[in-house]
Amino acid sequence: MSVPRPAAVVVLAAGEGTRMKSERPKVLHELCGRAMLDHVLVAARGLDPERLIVVIGHGRERMHEHLARTSPDALAVVQTEQRGTGHAVRTALEEVGTLGGTVLVTYGDTPMLRQETMERLLAAHTGDGNAVTVLTAVVPDPTGYGRIIRDSGGAVLEIVEDRDATPEQRAIAEMNSGVYAFDGQLLADGIKRVGAANAQGEEYLTDVLAILREDGHRVGAFVAADHVEVEGVNNRVQLAAARRVLNDRVLRDHMLAGVTVIDPASTWIDVDVTVEADAVIHPGCQLHGRTTIASGAEIGPATTLTDTEVGEDAVVRNSVCEGASIGPEALVGPYTYLRPGAVLLRKAKAGAHVEIKNSEVGEGAKVPHLSYVGDATIGTGANIGAATVFVNYDGVEKRHITVGDHAFVGCDTMLVAPVTVGDGAYTAAGSTITNDVPPGAIAVARERQRTIEGWVARKRAGTRSAEAARRASAAGQTADQQEKGT
Ligand code: UD1
Ligand code: CA
Repeated sequence: MSVPRPAAVVVLAAGEGTRMKSERPKVLHELCGRAMLDHVLVAARGLDPERLIVVIGHGRERMHEHLARTSPDALAVVQTEQRGTGHAVRTALEEVGTLGGTVLVTYGDTPMLRQETMERLLAAHTGDGNAVTVLTAVVPDPTGYGRIIRDSGGAVLEIVEDRDATPEQRAIAEMNSGVYAFDGQLLADGIKRVGAANAQGEEYLTDVLAILREDGHRVGAFVAADHVEVEGVNNRVQLAAARRVLNDRVLRDHMLAGVTVIDPASTWIDVDVTVEADAVIHPGCQLHGRTTIASGAEIGPATTLTDTEVGEDAVVRNSVCEGASIGPEALVGPYTYLRPGAVLLRKAKAGAHVEIKNSEVGEGAKVPHLSYVGDATIGTGANIGAATVFVNYDGVEKRHITVGDHAFVGCDTMLVAPVTVGDGAYTAAGSTITNDVPPGAIAVARERQRTIEGWVARKRAGTRSAEAARRASAAGQTADQQEKGT
């Protein structure tokens, strides 16, 4: 299939999208890690058009800001008043001038439309030598869409909007997807002649078809194989349905490429995530942003990863990780929170109820239980005892803490920054470490234990504790007597 390079793709996105009931412009609502508009722009860019034009209007500040950030290659044309899809195209052409070659017009609210389908439309358009070719689909319920009116021989006559249609026309199941390939010269000419004598008082782009046909030009339709693809998003029910469709496509591609997805229904993977073959994704996972999963890794169940890198054969269970890097064969979870800058080297472990941010955990080092690690470097093979806290913040500044190779930090240690525990050094359980510990030393920083015999019998007489203590001491005496043989 030879696909000619279009002179331009014009994406109409000026409408308000009232049915979304949102402060946010409709086409900036997100699905699968991208704004609706960006799905359209990515597909459009794939056609390698000479110009990429987006017509904006409602919420134009946000739209300008969004386009500058995500699509600096696109030209934004402002349509101040939304007087219809025809008016939107006219506004764009008045700004950029007549475009020679093929102009593809599409809408910003059709995120499911695939690049391949647009390519087929372009190929059909050029192959048939048409002035305009509209992408259509036969749908179970065409309510709300423009209908394709054909003559008895099947030739396309015109498009009639739902609100302007007769009952007979409404019965037609072939709808207008809102995607068209135009001859640029003829579009520039036809668009000027579109009126607004219709139910909505708008300039309809769709009227250009009848205008060109009446001029004696060839007007064609290309019927999409999959009608779901061309459906637009007008409200949040349709947004959720589109998200499901795109997500299923992403999962299908991953599965066919060798990824095991145990439960596609509860797995959500953004379009820019990469997953290597032989990774396993358990139920209830969400992989967002630029997350990458290497071969053999096991993710989930119930794990949310954002912009996180997971190495080969690592295991991440029931955890939330953002901006983290998890090395090969590392173990994370369950119930672990890795924040930006958390780096686990090969075979490192971050266990249950552990939070780590901006810290490196060395090769084979372990933070197995109930700890907070912030702004730290932990050496190779070090062990961080349960309930250790890296006290990195003094209320004003955050400072660094270093734990050396094969150091052993006892349970419930408070490491107060800035401080260093040297290679092979130990800290005693329950210590608050404020001074550096030299390599090989043990630091004990806690009260000595004081034991007051018989305190419970005197101060808590009559309690169950006192009764238990009494029984223990009676049993102890009996045992003593038996041992002495009395
Ligand atoms: C349009 C088509 C209809 C088709 C349907 C497919 C027309 C007249 N009708 O109807 O035949 O079946 O799409 O989804 O074209 N827009 C602007 N400026 C405007 C008006 C709209 O940029 O002045 C943009 C909107 O932001 C939107 C797109 O054009 O992205 C479509 O507009 P919308 O009002 O949703 O058209 P529909 O009534 O759905
Ligand atoms: Ca629409």
